[in-house]
Amino acid sequence: MPYLIAPSILAADFARLGDEVEAVMNAGADVIHFDVMDSHYVPSLTIGPLVLESLRRRFPELPVDVHLMVKHETDQLVRDFVNAGASYISIHPDSAADPIQLLKYIRASNVKAGIVLNPDQSIATISPYLGYLDYLLIMSVYPGKGGQSFIPESTDRLRQAKYILDAANSRIDLEVDGGIKSENIGDVAQAGANMFVAGTAIFGTPNYADAIQGMRARIESIN
Ligand code: DX5
Ligand code: ZN
Repeated sequence: MPYLIAPSILAADFARLGDEVEAVMNAGADVIHFDVMDSHYVPSLTIGPLVLESLRRRFPELPVDVHLMVKHETDQLVRDFVNAGASYISIHPDSAADPIQLLKYIRASNVKAGIVLNPDQSIATISPYLGYLDYLLIMSVYPGKGGQSFIPESTDRLRQAKYILDAANSRIDLEVDGGIKSENIGDVAQAGANMFVAGTAIFGTPNYADAIQGMRARIESIN
């Protein structure tokens, strides 16, 4: 599986968003992680489809991973993000009336479909969705804001998720999000993650290329 580094633009300077995206992609990022918060599923309010449309106009080929942390009108928002040009869309299963229908719709739109599990949601709950997924996102913090500390139990949860995926002969991407930095990225890679979201550990540093190279070096040192 390829290792994908996905900087979360939640930690970018929104006044210079396009330039920040360009800088981080030039620095070696693979995917842009786009955190959508609606002030209901989580307290914060962030960005919506219009922002993605603007980025998509400037960067036609940019891989964008939309992480939907929303409570209401989830189906409509998924459609809006498909139309705005998402490359990946992940949904929290407790935020959709019929998650499987939504996953099917995302895939039928040629967008990668993902399910996200919060730290207090059992890994076994992914079973019904396995046949409809392109990726699984394991939260290593409670969603809601950037800059939180990695929850140590997440490494074991990734191992469990990897075990379930392997047992089902599933070769989907396993993504981890929250508190990821060069000090813990090797451990989560060892546990089975291959897609790594990092906000503050990249945008909070002066040199994005150094930050990303540092992470890649730690990931590669496990092999
Ligand atoms: C948390 C978001 C994360 C967050 C990650 O609710 O889903 O994507 O931006 O930020 P860091 O890497 O700073 O924990
Ligand atoms: Zn996220």
